[in-house]
Parts: sequence; structure tokens; C-alpha cells
Amino acid sequence: MMSISQEVFDRIPTSVIVVDSKRRVLQANRSARELIGEAAIGRDLALSLRHPNILDGLDRVLGGAPEADGEITLPVPVPRNLSFRIERLNITSVDDDAVATLVIDDITSARKAEQMRTDFVANVSHELRSPLTALIGFIETLRGPASDDIEARARFLNIMHRESQRMARLIDDLLSLTRVEINEHVPPRQTVDVQRSVNNVLEALGPQANKNNIAFKVTSVPDLPKAIGDSDQLHQVFRNLIENAIKYGGNDKSIDISFNRVERIPGTSRPGISITISDHGPGIPKELIPRLTERFFRVDDARSNNSESGIGSTGLGLAIVKHIISRHRGHLSAQSVLGQGSSFSVFLPTDIVPRTEHL
Ligand SMILES: Nc1ncnc2c1ncn2[C@@H]1O[C@H](COP(=O)(O)OP(=O)(O)OP(=O)(O)O)[C@@H](O)[C@H]1O
Ligand SMILES: [Mg+2]
Repeated sequence: MMSISQEVFDRIPTSVIVVDSKRRVLQANRSARELIGEAAIGRDLALSLRHPNILDGLDRVLGGAPEADGEITLPVPVPRNLSFRIERLNITSVDDDAVATLVIDDITSARKAEQMRTDFVANVSHELRSPLTALIGFIETLRGPASDDIEARARFLNIMHRESQRMARLIDDLLSLTRVEINEHVPPRQTVDVQRSVNNVLEALGPQANKNNIAFKVTSVPDLPKAIGDSDQLHQVFRNLIENAIKYGGNDKSIDISFNRVERIPGTSRPGISITISDHGPGIPKELIPRLTERFFRVDDARSNNSESGIGSTGLGLAIVKHIISRHRGHLSAQSVLGQGSSFSVFLPTDIVPRTEHL
């Protein structure tokens, strides 16, 4: 330890602590001092790091064991997962008090990523499981008790059709999300007339809007520049947002769509355009807005699943929207006032993203 300077020692991002035979801290690099505090130097480590697993391991090594390791969770100030490893030093010089090293790594982000992966798989399985269970149930009923009941058969087949469509949609959306993610690091380079793209969406969703007595009000500034984008993906973005406004914005109301130029896309220094889609529905509680783009997140399960479309919702729409916009190096913002409505704005660049964007 003495052969490397304190400065080099301090640059190691892992926390390294050297203790003597009485568990006193002889040396600690910067990362370790952030963990146990400057005042810990020269004192028993138990005064600054009280976790029983670490202290037990340390006592075992100080008592003669060659090594000990493990994982701990520190609950405050923010929960952190740490892995630690304690090893005896092979000290030959008599006047050196150093007996063991304690090396601690912060593995919080790795654990978080694992947790997210596990949650994701659990969510997908759950989402596929519910329509599948319904299908299996109806197949059994049709083979058994309802085999001669023509009326029940027609009704069950209808439900089965809907449930299987729901599964197909879920799989399509998941694949679509994966495709977007794979390309997310490559910004698109085509130019897209977003007004035309939105008009195509409005035409396609017209019947659904008419049925619910919803009127579209579109406003724009003159000579709106084209966006740099991928027209199929932007179509998907507008379709998702306008479909949400129809589904959750309530009947007999208007949906307002406005196009604008912006000097800067939020979070960047680049100019662009914005497309804002506002509804006059019940709105979304403020604390849930940041969660809207999470996969499978729905504000109100019952409302989402009983929607007019018949095949319910997958909760993937806004997750796809977010990834597409991120690929475009654009920005998505959402605002809502309970009882008054929700408003989603998409910001898109109007000039080619420089290749040196990361510099
Ligand atoms: N305009 C809106 N007004 C109120 N709530 C909304 C609005 N847009 C989205 N939400 C809420 O956000 C949730 C997530 O929306 P998202 O588009 O990601 O999924 P979805 O609409 O449930 O499913 P999908 O888009 O796959 O049909 C919705 O379930 C709904 O609860
Ligand atoms: Mg949606």
C-alpha cells in the first residue's frame, strides 16, 4: 500500500479501506472516506460502518481466516447495494500494522437493472397469461357444457376472438418496442411533413372519433418546416397520442392539435418544431405523469381495459412513443390538470443531427 501514492489510491472508484489487527482504519481512499466519513481514520471501523455482515467478516479475517465476502444493503440516505471483500495482507515487515483490506463496490445500478429485467419478464408473462387463461376457459366450456348451445357459442367465440387479438397486439407492440430500441442510437435522416403525417392519422381515426362525437381542431403557424425523422415511426407516435386522446379524453369534446416552431428543443440547443395534442378529459394525477412512459403502466386499469376499441390496451403505447422520440433526439412532455384535460407535446429537430452529437 505504501508503494502507491495517496493520489493514485484516491482515484480508484472502488472503496478501499486498510485496517490493523484491532480493526482500526489505517488508510481509506476517497471513495471509502465518502462512505465512512473523514473522522473514521484512526478509529475502530465499527464506529463508522456498523453493518454486522461486514464486521463479522472482518473479525473472522482478523482472527486468521484468509478472506470473507458478501453483499449488504444500506437503507439510508438512499437504498444502496454494496458488495464487499475482505482479505488478509501478506505483510512481512514487522513495523507495518496493516493486517487486512476491505474493498467495497457499489452495485446498486447493476441490481436495479436486474430487477427491472425480472419485473419486465414478470409483467409480460402476466399480460399474456390473462387473455390465455380466458381462451383456455372458453375452449373448455365450448367442448363441454356449452357444446350444444348455439347462442353461447357465438358469444364465446366473440370473446375468444377479442382475447386472441389482444395477445397478438401485445406481441406486435413488444416487437415494435424492441425494433425501436435496437435502432435508437441511429437518428433518422429523412425529412417528414408532420402535418401530412398527422392528417393521415386523423383520417384513419376519423370513424372512431365520429362514433364518440369528438371533433379535431387543428392550428398551425405558416410555413412550418419539415422535421428530420422516420415517417413510419412518427406516424406511430401521432397515432398513439391521438388514439389516447380519443380513448381517455371523453366523448362529445374536442381534441386540439397545434403545430409550432420552437427555437430550442428542451434539453438541447437545436431548433425544431412542436406538435401538441390536447384533450379535455378527466386528466392524469400529477404524480403519475412521470410514470406514463413505463412499460405496461396504466393510470386506471379498468378504464384502459374497458375501452371502446374492444381489445383494451397494452400500456405500451407511450413507452413506444418515448423510445421513438428519443431516437429522433426530440423531446416528449406531458401536462395535465385534473378535471380539465391532458396535453402531450412532441418536439422534433428540423436539422440533421450532427454525427458528433456525443462530443
Ligand atoms: N390523454 C390521456 N388522458 C388520460 N389518461 C391518459 C391519456 N393518455 C394516456 N393516459 C393513461 O396512460 C396510460 C398509458 O398509456 P399508453 O398509451 O402507454 O397505454 P394504453 O393506451 O393503456 O395502451 P395502448 O396504447 O397500447 O393501447 C393509459 O392506460 C391511460 O391510463
Ligand atoms: Mg395508448
